[in-house]
Amino acid sequence: MSDLTKRLTSAKSPSGRESEITAIILEELEEFIDGYKIDKLGNLIVWKNGKSGKKVLLDAHMDEIGVVVTNIDDRGFLKIDRVGGVSPYTVYQSRLRFGEVVGIVGIEGETAEELQSNIQKMSFEKLFVDIGAKSKEEAEKLCPIGTFGTYDSYFHKQGDYIINKSMDDRIGCVVIIETLRRIKEPQNTIYGVFAVQEEVGLIGAHVAGYDIEPDVAIALDVTGVGDTPKGLKRVPMELGKGACIKVKDMSSISNRYIVDKLKELAEKYDIPHQMEVLIFGGTDAAGYQATKSGIPSATISIPTRYIHTSSEMVYEPDVEATIELTIKYCEEGI
Ligand code: CO
Ligand code: ZN
Repeated sequence: MSDLTKRLTSAKSPSGRESEITAIILEELEEFIDGYKIDKLGNLIVWKNGKSGKKVLLDAHMDEIGVVVTNIDDRGFLKIDRVGGVSPYTVYQSRLRFGEVVGIVGIEGETAEELQSNIQKMSFEKLFVDIGAKSKEEAEKLCPIGTFGTYDSYFHKQGDYIINKSMDDRIGCVVIIETLRRIKEPQNTIYGVFAVQEEVGLIGAHVAGYDIEPDVAIALDVTGVGDTPKGLKRVPMELGKGACIKVKDMSSISNRYIVDKLKELAEKYDIPHQMEVLIFGGTDAAGYQATKSGIPSATISIPTRYIHTSSEMVYEPDVEATIELTIKYCEEGI
């Protein structure tokens, strides 16, 4: 599973630029599915036929947060803006990757005072990206306006912990891939949706739900935790406690019957799990709930530290528990 996670998190596919990750997922899954299509928006939709006539949709978004070049100054320094929830604090002094080009993020400040104040009140207005261009013309060739970028990070495994950019939500993609690989003859037809553009507003989920019209939709995504020093007290989730069965977040309330079923299955099969109430955030489940005539939806989350940074950390046994629970739900859930 580590190798698969390494491969998926190494792909550079910010929202709206998902072609690299699409090709990788398809390659990893091809021999384990009955069919696939890529819809007009770019969602990769795969399926594995079951006997019951019912449809379970499993969703993970394959896009990641990133940046986009908005302007280039006379000396070839870039200005950028966010694509999805990137904080200026996390990109400052880091490397960004624009295809083959690497950029370093610096900050403006003509006096020590101004510099200090810009660092304290960080904003994309004050940041610039240095790609080592000698002129505006050279920068325009390397990174024209509109070029998308991502964090430049690398995969590392330390004991049971794995770290890289874009665990949000490539780790959800790993869960679906492993589920489809391991289920031999599913009871219900399983649709795997590798959705585009979640980070900019659940765009892919809305259209995939309308298209497939499943009986239930389950989003697999990361969730925040409160288990670091002086972490958020109102957030009960922790790394190492297993799959998170989401009750609610800022954008959706999980269907109560799906939540009950997930809990029942986790208890029945002794799968490590924890109940999740997240006081911020949202997942593609909100997209499925609000499409067509309202698809019963829920989220199973993977507890994750440092979400939306270049070093998102997850605990592999939690991922394993999430895969087990997802498989049981596909087999016995509806
Ligand atoms: Co995210
Ligand atoms: Zn996510």
